[in-house]
Amino acid sequence: MSEHDHDEDTDGNATGTESGAAGADDLTLDPWGSSTVADYRKLFSEFGIESFESVLSDVPNPHYLMRRGVIFGHREYDRVLDGMETGEAAVLSGFMPTGDPHIGHKLVFDEIVWHQQRGADAYGLIADLEAHSARGLDWAEIDEHARDYLLSLLALGFDPEEGELYRQSTNRTVQDLAFELGIETNTSELRAIYGFDGETDVSHMQSVVTQMADILYPQLEEPKPTVIPVGPDQDPHVRLARDLAARMRSFKVTEAYASFEAEPGERALIGEAYETLGGEDAEESIRCVAAADWIAERYDAPDVEESLRAAGKEPIRPRVRFLDRNASDDAFAALIDAIDGEKRVYEGHIDAFDCSREEAHALAREIEVEHDGYGFYPPSSIYHRFMTGLTGGKMSSSIPASHISLLDDPEDGYDKVNAATTGGRDTAELQRKLGGEADDCPVYELYAYLLAGDDDELAKTVYDECVGGERLCGDCKEQAAQLMKAFLEDHQEKREEAEELLESLDVEL
Ligand code: TRP
Ligand code: SF4
Repeated sequence: MSEHDHDEDTDGNATGTESGAAGADDLTLDPWGSSTVADYRKLFSEFGIESFESVLSDVPNPHYLMRRGVIFGHREYDRVLDGMETGEAAVLSGFMPTGDPHIGHKLVFDEIVWHQQRGADAYGLIADLEAHSARGLDWAEIDEHARDYLLSLLALGFDPEEGELYRQSTNRTVQDLAFELGIETNTSELRAIYGFDGETDVSHMQSVVTQMADILYPQLEEPKPTVIPVGPDQDPHVRLARDLAARMRSFKVTEAYASFEAEPGERALIGEAYETLGGEDAEESIRCVAAADWIAERYDAPDVEESLRAAGKEPIRPRVRFLDRNASDDAFAALIDAIDGEKRVYEGHIDAFDCSREEAHALAREIEVEHDGYGFYPPSSIYHRFMTGLTGGKMSSSIPASHISLLDDPEDGYDKVNAATTGGRDTAELQRKLGGEADDCPVYELYAYLLAGDDDELAKTVYDECVGGERLCGDCKEQAAQLMKAFLEDHQEKREEAEELLESLDVEL
């Protein structure tokens, strides 16, 4: 898939309504609340996240978290897949150092490392400003935890020579970018997206623009498709970042049929009229009035009809339009020069008749970057499911028995798994008869999300044996507990080995 399949027209993308939806109905995505998601499908319909299944077949050798549906959703991940093919892609995620890194964070560490190993520029950051402002952690706690996150990320294979690790508080470039992005962000918008109100402190707001800067940071040197792997609670941030990426652009590329501006829906109507009346192959040029008549007979669309009638005898001609958003006069002039073929220059836009949409996007970005613009691509994202706590309910850093910390003593890890809630039946007899409920079993989740690793066969065997009644929970947990112990031993050994590497990096801890 290529760029012209993507709508960079984030304004026309109903972002306004998307953002507003954050506070609506029973499903809210709150980055600072305790998010559980009962029904992941709702995220598709209510927030416009797309199902990961729709791109899975385009991923070469997908990660097991993708294969098993743990990564369930995305926004424009296809753009990143294209970028990875040509070696132009980045991956970034951030971690609030509020407690020990646990097996839920491991999903994200793995996602970063996986993209890095496939050639993406990789970034891992410690969201210390956010932890301090939004969660009230003091700096000593933050420093300790920051170290632990980075060690685990390194132990899981992050290559710091190729990638970059940083903390928000010491990255001056990120803070400068945050300041610039803050100019494009107002408080009513933060209110709509995050439910901020008059009591919200300024530093909390600053942590939001800082996260926006984190997300766009990989594109500062050079714009490139970037994927942000996160839990769905972070989607409000992703939406805002996508919006800001568009707002920072010097140019916006859209399509048009005539000299006047039309909304995307109106454009579709004009397009339909034009095609039905013969399109390019029509003997005589199709006038705007003719399209108005055609639409009037079939649709109730007074606005577009009026625009078409006002344009009267102007022939309809499909074209790409470059709109001036924040371009300097120099940049605008340079763009005019750079457009090949027939073009028409207007006050705030240029229409080009011999240029594909794809070429137009590339050209606009090139000229923008040459004239000190950012040229940001809207960041893409992938979303993973939250892990269920070992004791049922949400996996939470503040409930030790609910999660396994990557720092847990391997024996404790073993014990926690053995003490976990299962999807088993009340008696062995019933289990043999009815089978277990693997889909609702935190232990099965451990296999699928972590313990089976790349071994699909193992994950499938556990599942099939469980629901088929051949597997009983005692043995199943014992096996999982052993695997967990082995994983923790191995991981902690690698953490120790990573100590030296961490010291050698210029992350201030
Ligand atoms: N807000 C994220 C969290 O709560 C942390 C974070 C900061 C982040 N900057 C980021 C996540 C950039 C992804 C990308 O965990
Ligand atoms: Fe869960 Fe295993 Fe019991 Fe099935 S057999 S319910 S997967 S613990």
